[in-house]
Amino acid sequence: MSKAARIVVAVPGGSYDVLVGRGLLSEAGVLVRQRTSARRVSLVTDDRVAPLFARRVLDALSAEGLEPVPIVVNAGEKSKNWQEAGRLVETFSGAGLGRDSAVIALGGGVIGDLAGFAAAVYLRGVPVVHLPTTLLAQVDSSIGGKTGVDLPRGKNLAGAFWQPALVIVDPDCLGTLAGNEWSSGLAEVAKSALLDSEDSVAALERDAVALGARERDAVDRAVLMSVGLKARVVSGDEREDADRECLNLGHTFGHALERELGYGVLAHGVAVAEGLRFAARLAEREAGVAGEWTSRQGRLLDALGLPPLAPRCVAANMLEAMRADKKVRDGRVRFVFSTGPGMWKTHVPDETVLADELARTCQG
Ligand SMILES: NC(=O)c1ccc[n+]([C@@H]2O[C@H](COP(=O)([O-])OP(=O)(O)OC[C@H]3O[C@@H](n4cnc5c(N)ncnc54)[C@H](O)[C@@H]3O)[C@@H](O)[C@H]2O)c1
Repeated sequence: MSKAARIVVAVPGGSYDVLVGRGLLSEAGVLVRQRTSARRVSLVTDDRVAPLFARRVLDALSAEGLEPVPIVVNAGEKSKNWQEAGRLVETFSGAGLGRDSAVIALGGGVIGDLAGFAAAVYLRGVPVVHLPTTLLAQVDSSIGGKTGVDLPRGKNLAGAFWQPALVIVDPDCLGTLAGNEWSSGLAEVAKSALLDSEDSVAALERDAVALGARERDAVDRAVLMSVGLKARVVSGDEREDADRECLNLGHTFGHALERELGYGVLAHGVAVAEGLRFAARLAEREAGVAGEWTSRQGRLLDALGLPPLAPRCVAANMLEAMRADKKVRDGRVRFVFSTGPGMWKTHVPDETVLADELARTCQG
């Protein structure tokens, strides 16, 4: 990627850009200056990302006179809570950040959700610029405007829609990611390709081995394809009542599995990959989807280093967890089925078939 690709996301009343390019982190200062009216900023990051990239970003922001106020939180999901969001807004206030300020979120999905939420509520909303550093955050969570924190009763139970002013995606960040975080992101890339088109599925099949080795060109193609898909899906549908539902592919089972095994036991994307396999099998039984499509999805996940799990969970508990999902309406579990490359539909499966497929899958 020699120069940045620009993908536009349309939101009610405007639009924002997702810029994708290697080396863009060093241009954060210039880009924030150009794209926002911020005169001061707070850089929010975590203690794993800080030693890797914070200096470069702070220098870039300082060079543009943006007087960055750095805030470092502990890495990991445990930081995505109400208290930490409160600490951020108190720090913004203590540093005297005004309406002419912006929040820069440098990190994975945890930092994006947490800092985005703090930006949404501070002074009833200041701009947020996302600098996602995990594959999952680059291809998924930084785009679409969902922000929030976890509550003791569950994930993402408090939050706000707060669209970013700009998203800066620099794939050069991805070299330092741990193996499980890489796989986690690849599951979302696979989901994007399935939803996107035959061309995207075929390209991902060709690139699967290269992606395992994190080869530049393959990574750039995968990131661009996924960003394009997410941008297209969320454009104009902030509140998730129509087209956005497709992004839930693999997540009905995936979320339940994460909950059942205990959060943090599996990386999110690894649970989603198992969810993609489950949805494919169910779609074959319930919606007449061709068995060859199920097998092809399985082979793609295998090639991406996301093998089947034979998860140690109890079928009845999984059904309960699915019913407790906050996206369930009228107590009926809804699935997104991939019916072919670039095609999907929502479906409420027959309870007996669902229970049977769960019994075959769960090895608890
Ligand atoms: N807002 C949305 O639409 C949306 C969508 C999907 C997921 N999410 C949320 O995203 C979160 C998960 O995000 P995640 O998977 O990025 O997790 P994460 O933010 O916890 O990052 C994973 C780990 O990788 C480390 N890390 C980040 N960048 C790194 C890099 N370049 N090199 C080395 N280490 C690095 C982090 O410090 C952390 O330890 C969850 O809280 C989930 O709810 C939000």
